[in-house]
Parts: sequence; structure tokens; C-alpha cells
Amino acid sequence: LESHASNPKCGTADLISKLPSREGWSELIVLYKNYWLHPYFVESVLRLQNSFKPRHDDIILTSNPKCGTTWLKALAFAVTNRFQYDFDNHPLLFRHPQEVVPFIEIPRNMDFTYLETLPSPRLLATHLPLSLFPKSITSGCGCRVVYICRDPKDAFVSRWCYDNKVHRRHSVDLKTAFNMFSEGFSGYGPFWDHCLEYWRESIAMPDRVLFLKYEEMLSDPVKYVMKIAAFIGVPFCTKEEEDGVPEEMVRLCNFEKLSSLYINKTGEYFRHGNMVIENSAYFRKGKVGDWQNHMSEEMGRKLDRIVKEKLKGSAFCR
Ligand code: A3P
Repeated sequence: LESHASNPKCGTADLISKLPSREGWSELIVLYKNYWLHPYFVESVLRLQNSFKPRHDDIILTSNPKCGTTWLKALAFAVTNRFQYDFDNHPLLFRHPQEVVPFIEIPRNMDFTYLETLPSPRLLATHLPLSLFPKSITSGCGCRVVYICRDPKDAFVSRWCYDNKVHRRHSVDLKTAFNMFSEGFSGYGPFWDHCLEYWRESIAMPDRVLFLKYEEMLSDPVKYVMKIAAFIGVPFCTKEEEDGVPEEMVRLCNFEKLSSLYINKTGEYFRHGNMVIENSAYFRKGKVGDWQNHMSEEMGRKLDRIVKEKLKGSAFCR
């Protein structure tokens, strides 16, 4: 497909139309190199392959959707910019975390050149699986990747609730969505392959890929904010630790604080056709185990079994 893409006679749209496709939870998605993606993101992958210029000091935050990206964006932004801003007048009090760290496959106003204009060190994000990263990133450019993973049951429920909210038309019922998710059929899915790729890379290259779990971060956020800071090359000094800076950062970025801010409670992040993403859509409950309020125990066991089976032999367990 990439060689086709570089051939001006071959339109990307034409190529995408030849990929296997299926009506997803709320829109059509296509299968590209083992992953189900919205056609727009296949186009982005192809564009990024040719145009993305990584910098050695880039920090790329990665995740399956609904695994805590917004929180990770806020924390990483607060950590990297902590010498510029004080807590009383912090940009996160006035700007949505999604806005301060752009997605490389969905840059601001869909303008891919925008990424080039950002000062170094850039803080970027993506939901793309590692195997679909631009080759320029994976071929030893030196940048660092922070991945956040979450219990698939909670990620699934969070995604279903989110999709129902943003698509503003009848999305599939929970049971149908669950069956699709369990088959690996969801945007950026299969969920487990996405996690596994990053996990393997974090084992092979621990100084390049940091693998985090949402649940562990929630149980000890200060420990993880310090871990993130050390990994991205801006560790907290003793004085900062004594002054409680990591704790302040956790307080600034916690669910209660962020979800109660005017900027995150009102307004829209994105609008296109029927799809309206309100700023508040990124904040729902922020809890571990909410799946139990939506799925039966049996569904939970079924998904656990499937994920266990898919991860068998990888030494990765949740
Ligand atoms: P729930 O729907 O389970 O509440 P993403 O940011 O990847 O889209 O993930 C969204 C999920 O993260 C939602 O989960 C959301 O409520 C939760 N979330 C958002 N901000 C958070 C924060 N500061 N701390 C913990 N969880 C947060």
C-alpha cells in the first residue's frame, strides 16, 4: 500500500476502498495491516510515513483509546513544562489537555505541517499501534514513547459510552459492541495486539518505551508522575520532592480537578458532520471497575478469557 501511495497515479482513496471494511460500532472501519481503523486514519498513516520528521527529543504519548490518554497528556505536559509555569496560573487551568498535546494522526485543523512548527522538545500523542508508526520513528531516531494501558473491560465500557455521546445517532447496543470488541473489531483494535506490541518494545528497549497501567497509576499517582519525569529526562530533584511538587502535579491533573474546570466542562473539542466531541466527553468517571455497572459478570469473564488466550505465551499479563 505504501508503494502505491507514493505513486501519484494511484489515489489513496482508491487504495483504501480496496481494504476489507465493516460497519463498526458507529461508523465504517477498514482493516489495514492487522488493525481496524477509520479510513481517515489510514490516510494519516500513509501521509505520516512520507512526511513525519521525528526529532531525537520528541516524547510520544501512546494508548488505545479510552485508556487514560487525557490524564497522561495532562501529567506529561505538567511535568515537562514545570519550570515555565506556576500552579496558580497554569495553562491546564485554561486549556483542555487534549489541546496541549496534539495527536500526530489528527493534528490541529488537520494540518500536518503544524507539527513542524512546534518547538522542541515536542510532546506528541497517538493512538496508532507501534507497527503503524512512521518508519522514521522506529528506525532509531532516539525519541521516547510512553504507553498507557488499561483493563480492556473498563476501556471497552468507556469507549462505548463515549461513542454514544459523540456520534449523536444511534450507535450499536452494548452487547453487539461487546461481541465486536471481543473479536478484536474496534477502532485501533484488536485491543490486545495494540498493548502487546508496545509491551514487547518496552521490554526490549526500556529506555525508549515506558509501559504504564492506568490502574497502577490511580493507586499511586505520585510514584508514577516521578517515574514519567525520570523517563522523559526531567527527573524531580530532591528540593522539588521536599517541596511536594510531584504531589501538586498529581492534584492539578487528577480527575476531580480537571473535570471541574470551566474549560473542560464546556465547549467543543471537535465537530464534523454528526460527530460532536464536547470537551467534557473526555471526563466520565475516572474509576477502576466501572465495567461492572454495564456488563454482566459472565461478559467480564468472557473478555478476560479471550484476552488471556490472546496474550498466551507472551509473558504479558495484566
Ligand atoms: P471512564 O470513561 O471510565 O470514566 P482517554 O483520555 O484515553 O480518552 O480515556 C478516557 C477515560 O479516562 C475516561 O474513563 C475518563 O473519565 C478517564 N479520565 C479522564 N481524565 C482523567 C484523570 N485526570 N484521571 C483519571 N482518569 C481520567
